[in-house]
Amino acid sequence: MLLLSKEDIKQVFTMKEAVEADKEAFTLFSKGKSVVPLRTNISAPKHGGAFLFMPSYVEEMECAAIKIVNVFPKNIDKGIPSTPAQVLLIDGTTGVVVSVLDGTYVTQLRTGAASGAAFDVLARKDAKKGALIGTGGQAAAQLEAMMAVRSLDEVKVFDLSEERLNAFVAQMNMELASYGTKVTAAKSSDEAIADADLVTAVTPSTKPVFDGSKIKEGATVSCVGSYQPHMQEMDPVILTRASKIYFDSEEAVLSEAGDILIPLADGTITKEDFTGDLGDVLLGKIAGRENDKEIIVFKTVGIGTQDLVTAKKIYDKALAKGVGTVWN
Ligand SMILES: NC(=O)c1ccc[n+]([C@@H]2O[C@H](COP(=O)([O-])OP(=O)(O)OC[C@H]3O[C@@H](n4cnc5c(N)ncnc54)[C@H](O)[C@@H]3O)[C@@H](O)[C@H]2O)c1
Repeated sequence: MLLLSKEDIKQVFTMKEAVEADKEAFTLFSKGKSVVPLRTNISAPKHGGAFLFMPSYVEEMECAAIKIVNVFPKNIDKGIPSTPAQVLLIDGTTGVVVSVLDGTYVTQLRTGAASGAAFDVLARKDAKKGALIGTGGQAAAQLEAMMAVRSLDEVKVFDLSEERLNAFVAQMNMELASYGTKVTAAKSSDEAIADADLVTAVTPSTKPVFDGSKIKEGATVSCVGSYQPHMQEMDPVILTRASKIYFDSEEAVLSEAGDILIPLADGTITKEDFTGDLGDVLLGKIAGRENDKEIIVFKTVGIGTQDLVTAKKIYDKALAKGVGTVWN
């Protein structure tokens, strides 16, 4: 069995490759080629946390995977990720677990890459400005994914915690310097989204984190954070302004995400407003962006196929390059 740490993964796998892996995952999912039962969610109310088990199987890739991802929001105050996780990769021909990967990092990569894939497919080609709301565990990968798919001049970042915001901005300007994009701290989400062509929200908020009436024409908005019915970071106004609304998986989103469930329940939107899944755009079954003026919304809650495809690609590259720790 090959144990792959974050550093091992970084050595062999880039964000651009993660975006391509997610595109493949969404395509497999839309073709019905992946078996992805809805995730099992066991809550741990004593610690305000939840255990999530995400299995998946893709016969044509001869592999299965399960991610154990435990969401403990209070961890951020202890200086550890709020979503600790491992991915177990399983050989589809023998059922043997062949690799254990740092699931926190795989999650960050594939979740950033989901927004990256959506921006790559749906955003204006000439996008120059980005906005990022939230600077927690997922934020760095979200930021890098934006930069990996569009040549951006600047990304303005906002977080309720000024301390975290400033530390994040300083660190990202160093770590992601090779992209040539200026990362700046905004004083409000209004300031961050003004002029932004790409907007990513990645917070566990239960109330909207941006003003949807202030998003500019032609923008593409990816909302990543809300995964329970009471969670809502997306201002529903943006749904009424958007000409197209896409999902990673409409079924998964409708099973859990307040971002969509709340405005559906109060009649702000109906299911007729939904355009479909990103994988269907990739397959050419439904249209993507049709002009530079339309506002497009993408909502992702994450599907197991992303973990499986990303983990398999990482594992194959690590094996080829002799990276990782062999455990017998
Ligand atoms: N879609 C997916 O596939 C996927 C995958 C992993 C995590 N998530 C979800 O994404 C969310 C973010 O994850 P994380 O690990 O980065 O969380 P985190 O707890 O590490 O950080 C969240 C950040 O959001 C900030 N924040 C909260 N409310 C805000 C507001 N109103 N305005 C600005 N900033 C605000 C907090 O200050 C914090 O810095 C969580 O809800 C998580 O469950 C989604």
